[in-house]
Amino acid sequence: MASSSEGLQAYEEEKLLSLPKESGWGSRHLYLHQHFWCPSTHFQGVINFQNHFLAKDSDVIVASFPKSGTTWLKALTFSILNRQRFSSSHNHPLLTSNPHELVPFLDFIFHGDNIHDKLSHLSNMTEPRVFGTHLPFPSLPKSIKESSCKIVYICRNPFDTFVSLWIFANKINPHSMHELTIEEALEKSCKGIVGFGPTWEHMLGYWRESIANPNKVLFLKYEELKEDANFHVKRVAEFLDCPFTKEEESNGVIENIIKLCSFQKMKNLDVNKSGTVGRNLEKKYLFRKGEIGDWVNYFSPAMIEKLSKTMEEKLSGSGLSFKTCS
Ligand code: A3P
Repeated sequence: MASSSEGLQAYEEEKLLSLPKESGWGSRHLYLHQHFWCPSTHFQGVINFQNHFLAKDSDVIVASFPKSGTTWLKALTFSILNRQRFSSSHNHPLLTSNPHELVPFLDFIFHGDNIHDKLSHLSNMTEPRVFGTHLPFPSLPKSIKESSCKIVYICRNPFDTFVSLWIFANKINPHSMHELTIEEALEKSCKGIVGFGPTWEHMLGYWRESIANPNKVLFLKYEELKEDANFHVKRVAEFLDCPFTKEEESNGVIENIIKLCSFQKMKNLDVNKSGTVGRNLEKKYLFRKGEIGDWVNYFSPAMIEKLSKTMEEKLSGSGLSFKTCS
C-alpha cells in the first residue's frame, strides 16, 4: 500500500491498490496506470493533473521521458519565450532560479491538497505559461490535446538515458543499488518497467503525434540539440510562433541563450549547486556529465545486446532511430 507520506486520499489509495504493481528504482513502487508505470510518489499529482488541469491556447508544454534533457529544454524554452522580458546576460531568472522552478512539472504541482488554490494560482500566471510533464502523450489531459497549446518533446538515445537514470536513482535512493544490480535494472527497463515507461511507448507516442500533427508537437533529440544547438533553438522559436528576427540573429541573441542554458554554465551557477527543488530533489543531481555516449562506461557486451535487440524490436518500422543502435 502507498504510504501516507505520499499524501493519498482514501479513494486514491483504493484506486492504487487495484492497479498492477512492481518494485521500482528511484521510487519505491510503480503502478501500471493507463498503460504506463507511474511512480507511487507521483500518483496523486498525476491523477489531479489529469482531472483538473485546464490548458490555455497560449501554454507551452515541455514533455520528456525522465533523464532525456528535460532541465536543458526547460531552460531553453523559457529563455526563447521570455527573451524580450529578460536579457540573457543580466538579471536573467535562470541565474537565480533552477529551470524546474521557472517551468514547474504539472505532474508535481497537483500533489497534495488545495487543488482550487493551485488552479487559481495557475490561472493567474503570466502568459505564455510554460510547464513540464513526464506523462506519455495518450495520458495527457484532454484540454492539452484539444486546445491549441504547443508541446516540445525531447528524447535521448535509450543507452544514455538508462545510465543517466541509473546513476540518478542511486543518488536519490542510495539503497536501490543494494536492491538491484545495473543488469537487473536494465532487464526491468527492457520489459518497460521503469517510471513513466515503457520508454519506447513514451517516445513513440510523441513521435507519431509530431508526424500527424507537426504544429502541435515538436520532436527533438538530445544528441541533435547538442550537435547543432543554433539550428534547433531556431526551430523551437519558429514552432512556438516567435521566430528570431534578423536583428536578433545578428545581435547574438541565439548564442546568448545557448550559452546561458549550456551544461557548464547551468551546473556552475550557485543556484544549481546546492539546495533542493520540487519534492526535496537535490539540484546538484540534475547536472552530471551532460555528454553523449557515457553509456559505454557502464554497459557490458550482454547489456548492449539486450538493449539493442529490445530497441530493434520496439522501434522497428516507426522511422524513429538513434545513432547508437546502427
Ligand atoms: P547525464 O546524467 O548523462 O549527465 P533531465 O533533465 O531530463 O533529468 O536529464 C538529465 C540529463 O541531462 C543528465 O545527463 C544531465 O547531466 C543532463 N543535463 C542537464 N542540464 C543540461 C544542459 N544544460 N545541457 C546538456 N545536458 C544537460
